[in-house]
Amino acid sequence: MSKAKKEIKTIAVLTSGGDAPGMNAAIRAVARKAIKNGLKVMGIDKGYQGLLNGEIRELNAKDVSDTIQRGGTILKTARSEEFATPEGKVKGAKILKEHGIDALVVIGGDGSYKGALGLSHEGIGVIGIPGTIDLDIACTDYTIGFDTAINTAMDAIDKVRDTSSSHERCSIIEVMGRHAGYIALWCGVASGAEEILLPEKYDFDEQKIINHIVETRKLGKTHFLIVNAEGVGHSVSMARRIEAATGMETRATILGYMQRGGSPTCKDRFYASIMGAMAADLLKQGIINRVIGHKDGEFKDFDIDEALAMKKEIQEYYVEIAGALAR
Ligand code: F6P
Repeated sequence: MSKAKKEIKTIAVLTSGGDAPGMNAAIRAVARKAIKNGLKVMGIDKGYQGLLNGEIRELNAKDVSDTIQRGGTILKTARSEEFATPEGKVKGAKILKEHGIDALVVIGGDGSYKGALGLSHEGIGVIGIPGTIDLDIACTDYTIGFDTAINTAMDAIDKVRDTSSSHERCSIIEVMGRHAGYIALWCGVASGAEEILLPEKYDFDEQKIINHIVETRKLGKTHFLIVNAEGVGHSVSMARRIEAATGMETRATILGYMQRGGSPTCKDRFYASIMGAMAADLLKQGIINRVIGHKDGEFKDFDIDEALAMKKEIQEYYVEIAGALAR
């Protein structure tokens, strides 16, 4: 299938959904490469809600100086109920056209891509860049922010482990991932957790965990680490039940937003820079309605419709390995 094309002179960029470390590196790359490519670049503050409010300003190369190392997003982000409606998308496209914007680069997750797809149906060219700590975008093996988030979480888990081990306790550490267990899986394996609970796989059979704790204590293990994903939740009440059933002191630690913030790792900055620059290069060629990904070792772009139809599942083999290494 040939790629959709349109003459592009002015583009805009926004960040949408949860912030992710590396988003600034992506904004910077879009802006700088697009300007080099002869395009005019606008920044939209506060995601799609900011678009509906007309919070649009020109971005020049200097506006993105000193941002590559910063966490969060200099363009701010939001979730917009108004934009989620069909009328919201029509209004958004109208505002973009009034500002002379031919194409929009959206840095965010699947939900943000759906918004972009709606705008494409109203005649705005769109490009998606995967920005989420959750790694849950099907067309790409990598999402901007994941590397920073897992390293932040892993460091925190290592620290909790010290206390857990010193006091001979069981620790439940809740990491982010409401619908996706990638952060839990990676951090659980990397920190040698005895149990890793993933929203995609967890069967709510707490007795199995209790039996596992009892078994490992008999084998002489003095502490027990459970990495639990936000999507499974209930870490505090789970801790109470486990303590009552096993007699082992059990505490819950919820890591929360500390995983979304902080200075991006080198990997997040690099991937964000390449993906942002690629978006600007596609737009220079007039290529629109694509999503950028890193798949099978290469940076690629996919048709946005096709990208949204793709499915991604936690690899069963990795889950099996995690279980085997914990025993
Ligand atoms: O950014 C991804 C994520 O952290 C998910 O894991 C979680 O489901 C969601 O964001 C929560 O976001 P918020 O608290 O901003 O609604």
